[in-house]
Amino acid sequence: MEDASILDELLVCRLEQGRKVVEPCTLVIFGASGDLTSRKLVPALYHLFRAGQMPDPFRIVGFARRPKTDLEWRAELREALGRFSRTQPVDGAAWEAFAANLHYCAGEFHDLAAYQRLKRMVRGFGHPGLAHNLLCYLAVSPSQFGGVVDRLSAAALLEKRSDDKAGWQRVVVEKPFGSDLTSARNLNAELTRYTHETQLYRIDHYLGKETVQNLLLFRFSNAIFERLWNRDAIEQVQITVSERHGVGARGGYYEEAGALRDMVQNHLLQVLALVAMEPPVSLEAEAIRDEKVKLLRALRVWAPEQVRSQVVRGQYKAGLIGDLSCPAYRGEPRVAADSNVETYAALRVLVDNWRWSGVPFYLRTGKALPLSASEIRIQFKPTPHVLFAAQCGPRLDANSLTLRLQPDEGITLRFNGKVPGTTMQIRPVRMHFSYDAEFGAYTPEAYERLLLEAMAGDATLFIRRDEVEAAWSFVDGIRAGWEDAVLGDAEFYEAGTWGPAAADALLARYGHTWRHPQPVHEPRATR
Ligand SMILES: NC(=O)c1ccc[n+]([C@@H]2O[C@H](COP(=O)([O-])OP(=O)(O)OC[C@H]3O[C@@H](n4cnc5c(N)ncnc54)[C@H](OP(=O)(O)O)[C@@H]3O)[C@@H](O)[C@H]2O)c1
Repeated sequence: MEDASILDELLVCRLEQGRKVVEPCTLVIFGASGDLTSRKLVPALYHLFRAGQMPDPFRIVGFARRPKTDLEWRAELREALGRFSRTQPVDGAAWEAFAANLHYCAGEFHDLAAYQRLKRMVRGFGHPGLAHNLLCYLAVSPSQFGGVVDRLSAAALLEKRSDDKAGWQRVVVEKPFGSDLTSARNLNAELTRYTHETQLYRIDHYLGKETVQNLLLFRFSNAIFERLWNRDAIEQVQITVSERHGVGARGGYYEEAGALRDMVQNHLLQVLALVAMEPPVSLEAEAIRDEKVKLLRALRVWAPEQVRSQVVRGQYKAGLIGDLSCPAYRGEPRVAADSNVETYAALRVLVDNWRWSGVPFYLRTGKALPLSASEIRIQFKPTPHVLFAAQCGPRLDANSLTLRLQPDEGITLRFNGKVPGTTMQIRPVRMHFSYDAEFGAYTPEAYERLLLEAMAGDATLFIRRDEVEAAWSFVDGIRAGWEDAVLGDAEFYEAGTWGPAAADALLARYGHTWRHPQPVHEPRATR
């Protein structure tokens, strides 16, 4: 691995980020009146436009069932922007200039005539790029993916091919991508009937987060850390994605998903892959995705009888989160009174490869936990001998590195320091890097980056077919171990706590303890 050449590429990539060249294109959003469109997609596009990063020219066509005019759709989106834009107040002049590019096409997803109207509309824009470069964003239920691409193809709006000659067509699909390996394979088969794999962009919005992207840069442009990034120096790794809120109004969806499928299969395994993968040979999308898939394939799949000892699931009971009372999951709207769906999962993951042999990766995620935070903690091995045993006892804190993905994005290195004074007292201290302090508060939303990359044809931040399938193979093994077992008393946890006691017991068996994320803007505890 040539550190210097990778670094050059990373730096060039960073420099180019601000002025990524995107050809004129039309973005068609299927599900144009949905929650995702108004809350995430259109605010992201508006911000790209304000930053001068949209192609020139561009058009955005909204496609959904209910009839409405361009003006009505624009007015709806303008109102939503007032609520969801990360910059407030909305810049009226910028909005007007942006909104002039928004059009609406009413139609049922199964109705071919609607796609013919869509085709006439894009051809009528009067620019070859707008007519032939199409980014189709499927902000719709996965059960509708197949039907939409089938009609797009029938209307000759989508042509399956691997080159971009005479225009390009790309399809972006939202999560969830299947509910197990079989359904993911079926979905892949449905989509690839009409699209080449290189035309498919599977979203995991975690990959669009600035701090997640920084993982690659951090690992492969800092020699001091990469040299320690292996079983010789690292004792264990913890990846936590905690959510403070319960399921609220999303009970119907959650009953079909659960924490393992909703969070672990995608976000946590993607973060794990970036933390643990081997250096890619280049920054090409395929080179990075090759390494990620190799890592995902190296995850040890627990046999059903091992799952109970290696994976903990939990469900929240009523409790207090801060000052707010939270009902039990089973008392949430559209949740069965005897539901066995897990709102919490903690796993001990082993990576069976040369670099990580014997190093446990502890992954956990849950709802109704004390705070919302995502972080990675690399726990290094202790010193081989404690020179200061007489002064501080036989146990000296080992070094750790915490990468905070959100909130309070940054990196903290913890090491031991001498307390000033005439005695030899030792205490853990921290070196702290904060994105806000270093670069200011500007952090683009994940969807801004992802939409820009999809328009530019860079698939690095999207999930490839074999990655999805490898992740499902791993998760299916756990689900097979759970079967339909009813949740036991020890698997419930009070809302506002850090999960069931069984999760602490899991780590305790291996001599480890969870390190919980700390609240922002409060002094961080040293442990
Ligand atoms: N919301 C989020 O934050 C979020 C986050 C991650 C992933 N996702 C995923 O993104 C997808 C969309 O979610 P959403 O929350 O935006 O859904 P939603 O609010 O229910 O919106 C669905 C959209 O699809 C349109 N639609 C539904 N059936 C149609 C049909 N037969 N023909 C034409 N249009 C039809 C609806 O149009 P009408 O209004 O005209 O009926 C509406 O615009 C889902 O797969 C979801 O899992 C959403």
